[in-house]
Amino acid sequence: MISPHGGKLVDRVVKGKEREELLKKAHSYTSIKLDSWGLSDLVLISTGAFSPLTGFMNQKDYLQVLKDMRLSNGTVWSLPITLSIAKELRDTLSIGEIVSLKGEDGTVYGTLKIEEMFEYSKEAEALFVFRTLDKLHPGVQKTFQKEDVYVAGPVKLLQLPIALLKDFQTPKQLRKRIEELGWSTVAAFQTRNPIHRAHEYLQKTALENVDGLLIHPLVGDTKKDDIPAEIRMKSYRVLLDEYYPEDRVLLSTFPAAMRYAGPREAVFHSIVRKNFGCSHFIVGRDHAGVGDYYGTYDAQEIFTEFTKEEIGIEILKFEHAFYCIKCVAMATSKTCPHGDDLHIHLSGTKVRKMLKDGMMPPKEFSRPEVIEILMNEMKHDS
Ligand code: ADX
Repeated sequence: MISPHGGKLVDRVVKGKEREELLKKAHSYTSIKLDSWGLSDLVLISTGAFSPLTGFMNQKDYLQVLKDMRLSNGTVWSLPITLSIAKELRDTLSIGEIVSLKGEDGTVYGTLKIEEMFEYSKEAEALFVFRTLDKLHPGVQKTFQKEDVYVAGPVKLLQLPIALLKDFQTPKQLRKRIEELGWSTVAAFQTRNPIHRAHEYLQKTALENVDGLLIHPLVGDTKKDDIPAEIRMKSYRVLLDEYYPEDRVLLSTFPAAMRYAGPREAVFHSIVRKNFGCSHFIVGRDHAGVGDYYGTYDAQEIFTEFTKEEIGIEILKFEHAFYCIKCVAMATSKTCPHGDDLHIHLSGTKVRKMLKDGMMPPKEFSRPEVIEILMNEMKHDS
């Protein structure tokens, strides 16, 4: 089984008597309110998905991550994992203090021991992470909505948010499952969309060469016009039932927030999948991209900035895939000699628009069973 990122799987989930005692005490601590993004980070840190992180980043790690895509000890890490608070709250807190972390529903989900509080530049963060200051970029927008001070320190998780964790398996649980199945190589597939034929082509091409496939859809915060996770989950299930070999595929959720940071997020997506026990990670065209902010293959090229050992998971890179009318098959420019006029490639955006307008995307783009679910559900949803 592949080693977790940084060597050791983090476990900050408090159980049993210790949990009961800490929960009692936590109610008297000053609390910090987490939005759904913060809560998702807390869960992913605590369950080891973000190993080797044990808490929200301190300034040294944060700055090194921005400038160098590494933690201060040199381990590759490409995105800041931070918790912001208002200056007024900062003025009431002290270093060494333990605070409770509450969800929007008022539940105490965890605690944080304050190691450091620091101010930061939103412009610098946006430029490093998203390569743009354009406020139309959803990640940039989110960065500028944050409070002005980062509070850093190790966290503990006391309560699992049930709604977020439906169909989630912790890294420990998935590793165990993979071991039980006897798979020594597993390719992980990240997605925030319903699975279309190009996705399926990538997954099945990978599956020709590995023991198993983990379909690991991101189900945390996404931008408003992305298709809701519950609807996507239904569409994944029907697709797997109809078109995939049952004993070679696992479906489990990845409850992270989507950053839309393109190349940097591809690095992040890959290293955290190691923690879930995957040996391979699929990166296709414009991975984690949005609009036209990133080049089609930027998210593949970024991996040349690291050694294979530093990344530790094998990256399976794929060119833009399409359906070719002449080949009567899915293909890429690597395998098909025909011109663009014979190729069907729709974007997720176009498909969302077709669904909204009640139009059926062609079967060359998406399996009819998937489309049927999406059309029905989107009707209910709108
Ligand atoms: S992502 O934001 O989660 O990366 P998406 O769900 O669109 O978005 O894509 C999931 C994976 O499939 C990514 O690795 C992406 O690069 C890849 N991908 C999507 N569409 C294509 C395509 N037509 N050809 C090749 N790769 C693709």
